[in-house]
Amino acid sequence: MSEKLKGRKIDHLDISMEENVQARHVTTGFEDVTLIHRALPEIDHDRIDLTTRFLNHKFSAPIMVEALTGGVEKATKLNAAIAVAVEKLGLGMMVGSQRAAIEDSKLERTFSVAREKAPNAFLIANLGGPQLAGKYGVREARKAVEMIEADALAVHLNPLQETVQPEGERGYKGLADKICQITKALDVPVIVKETGAGISGEDAKKLEAAGVAAIDVAGLGGTSWAAVEYHRAKRLGDEFHQALGEAFWDWGIPTVASLIETGQSVHMPIVASGGIRSGIDATKAIVLGASLAGMAQPILDPAFHGATRVEEKLAFVIEELRTAMFLVGADSIQKLGKAPAIVTGKMAEWLSMRGFDPRVYARRGP
Ligand SMILES: Cc1cc2nc3c(=O)[nH]c(=O)nc-3n(C[C@H](O)[C@H](O)[C@H](O)COP(=O)(O)O)c2cc1C
Repeated sequence: MSEKLKGRKIDHLDISMEENVQARHVTTGFEDVTLIHRALPEIDHDRIDLTTRFLNHKFSAPIMVEALTGGVEKATKLNAAIAVAVEKLGLGMMVGSQRAAIEDSKLERTFSVAREKAPNAFLIANLGGPQLAGKYGVREARKAVEMIEADALAVHLNPLQETVQPEGERGYKGLADKICQITKALDVPVIVKETGAGISGEDAKKLEAAGVAAIDVAGLGGTSWAAVEYHRAKRLGDEFHQALGEAFWDWGIPTVASLIETGQSVHMPIVASGGIRSGIDATKAIVLGASLAGMAQPILDPAFHGATRVEEKLAFVIEELRTAMFLVGADSIQKLGKAPAIVTGKMAEWLSMRGFDPRVYARRGP
């Protein structure tokens, strides 16, 4: 791998740990979503069943850890810590972009450690849209999947990040066709995800036509990649890209808007991510139609401290989810998906203006 790519990956980890890289003036929209409290839940707290299925795999709870890292030495420890925790808890995990290990096989272990430590968990391989729009194709996609014996492949879309990144790759033309080739050639499902700026109803339809099996919205309101690249440009003394990062810090589609737009546009499972910060956010996401909720940034610091801390963090999120399920009277994830919610304020306005119904949340299995 080039020294540049390696340096960038380390910068991303360091900046995400040391600086505030969260959206500043825009939120996920979860504060506009209210679940209906039940004083008479008519269920037993101790009998709440959090198990669910996603892409024909059983999860102990509808939670996954989103792509964080790989490709540099210290990623081995982080990915191992996350993998141990998700294996123990029966959740899912997506590794970071595998480009580094496609280019330098010596780095494969920084990713494959995930399968070593999580022989049964749902693991998702990861490649970047810009690489697929460029030279990468079915061969690289297969290699990424084989590297971690993945249950699915994620293709990440990050046009905002690539634009703000000084050395970004901005060729996105032809990517939908490339994704289509890959969905046809692979024997595992392909998930397409954003990286913090969300997916619109229009793009969700294009992805459905390209044969993707699930969409992970990764909307606005959590980690901002314009912010990460703003800090990197600042450290590099690149004032132009620093200013661009500042200008686009809060760019994107809030997670709640993206989730409902996508849910009303396509018939496939949807992962809610981007600013999921608690089990209450996750509960709201599932009521709004998500099959799983995914978190990246909240897992980073625990991962640096090891598997136990990751497990504690995830176990707490699951406990919050269970508590919220009790309070809305849902003793299974299927019932939670049918629980009522009201969407008000800015999110309701957004959806109406865009021609979507703020009262309709369809959950698509399996
Ligand atoms: C340090 C760090 C590294 C990341 N690396 C990747 C990556 O390699 N591939 C990817 O698809 N997403 C990557 N992401 C994006 C996350 O998977 C996620 O989409 C985004 O951070 C929004 O979720 P959050 O608000 O919970 O952090 C990374 C995020 C962070 C914080």
